[in-house]
Amino acid sequence: MQKKLDFNKKLIILAPLAGYTDLPFRSIAKKFGADLTISEMISSNALVHKSEKTLKMIEKSPTEDPYFVQIAGNKPELVRDAVLILNDIDGIDGIDLNCGCPAPKVFNHGSGSNLLGDLKKLTEILSTVKKYSNKQYTSAKVRIGVNDKIPIEIGKAVEDCGVDFVCVHGRTRAGKYKAPVDYEAIKAMKSAISIPVIANGDIKDYTKAKEVLEFTNANGVMIGRGAIGKPWIFHQLKYGVEEISLEFKKEIILEHYDEVLKFHGLHGVVMFRKLLHSYSKGYNGATQFRDIINTIKDKNVMRDIIENFFTHI
Ligand SMILES: Cc1cc2nc3c(=O)[nH]c(=O)nc-3n(C[C@H](O)[C@H](O)[C@H](O)COP(=O)(O)O)c2cc1C
Repeated sequence: MQKKLDFNKKLIILAPLAGYTDLPFRSIAKKFGADLTISEMISSNALVHKSEKTLKMIEKSPTEDPYFVQIAGNKPELVRDAVLILNDIDGIDGIDLNCGCPAPKVFNHGSGSNLLGDLKKLTEILSTVKKYSNKQYTSAKVRIGVNDKIPIEIGKAVEDCGVDFVCVHGRTRAGKYKAPVDYEAIKAMKSAISIPVIANGDIKDYTKAKEVLEFTNANGVMIGRGAIGKPWIFHQLKYGVEEISLEFKKEIILEHYDEVLKFHGLHGVVMFRKLLHSYSKGYNGATQFRDIINTIKDKNVMRDIIENFFTHI
């Protein structure tokens, strides 16, 4: 079967962002040229219980090709069962193991970035994914340590599981989302292992992406927060362009809104508020706009207000 990811070119990947990268968000990112989209983190436990909410979270848009589901877990049997469930779902090209989530709820449960403090455990869980998955790809998303930076050890542990590539957020768990991203550590991981390494952390524009790729020699970049409120970043990165016209932005924001309504139903009106906060950031009148949309529940009124704001700013 032909491989869907070409590691001979520098890949641009949308990071999984819980609470943001649902199907509508991912399909917009895809439209702008993200080479790969990945679901929000799904707990193996939730997957095994096949809750309606969880199954909806892993639904993909037909345009998402390739598409990965990211799982979290720390119990081999549960992770195996989660993988077996995903095996039966068509259209998923890869399974990514979350080894980076710093949230206490996940960490204290032994999952996410907790695995970085016990590389034997990480190996056991990641090997389980690799062993049972029938998908084209297996990958891991890691940070560079829990408290201390151990990027090389982590990279080697991941590589030894026989997975296809690793995405590395250049912070420790202790660094949360604020400490300076250590691109030196990403570079060290890249030069220590032979599988492709994707660099992640604070990459928000073309210049930064270019610098990071040159400095780390990574095989691609993964963009998270830089895509919130600016999904056109994928187009900018791909083609090195700066300017996206306001008219085009408006079209995309409305398309995003329509997709959210289609996928989430009327509740989408309320859900879209937080995205509008990001979309309106930095524009004159944004505060007033946010105050207004925070009270709107009617889908047509909301659409008119969005259209009006982004036409007249
Ligand atoms: C709101 C939010 C939700 C996130 N959810 C996930 C997740 O579900 N899975 C994951 O591996 N990382 C998650 N992350 C981490 C991002 O994927 C990414 O590694 C991190 O934000 C650094 O990249 P950035 O600076 O481009 O945002 C999340 C980050 C944020 C801010």
